[in-house]
Amino acid sequence: MKILVIHGPNLNLLGSRESSIYGNMTLADLNTQIHDLSQTLEMDAEIFQSNSEGAIVDAIQAKEYDVLIINPAAYTHTSVAIRDAISAVGKPVIEVHISNIFKREEFRQKSFVSGVAIGQISGLGTEGYLLAVRAAKKIILQ
Ligand code: DQA
Repeated sequence: MKILVIHGPNLNLLGSRESSIYGNMTLADLNTQIHDLSQTLEMDAEIFQSNSEGAIVDAIQAKEYDVLIINPAAYTHTSVAIRDAISAVGKPVIEVHISNIFKREEFRQKSFVSGVAIGQISGLGTEGYLLAVRAAKKIILQ
């Protein structure tokens, strides 16, 4: 049972980036929590962060996983390429956002990924990733 977690652009700056929106947890600490929970649930987690759209498309295509958990960050609102990669690969996807994108600027309220995801978690902070890991286990066992 393997999950792939992809963090999109600027999420490498978690902890120092706009902490009133994204909180104080660093990406390294979040990744440790994701790995620990995955291990408890007897799953392997591979975690990948990139600021580059093409590298994210390559990871979606090339890596091996049963469920993808992705926070496409700013590419959520712009990337037909990431949406198409998800559709092409055909694996289950859970979309995660730390902030509630529907409560923010209008340009953030559209997601190209939601239409090809099983579901979306938005606005629950970094806890959203851990909820997604639990949901991924259920999806794999179905
Ligand atoms: C985000 C929301 C996006 O609008 C933004 O561009 C991000 C992070 C979130 O996790 O809340 O970089 O995906």
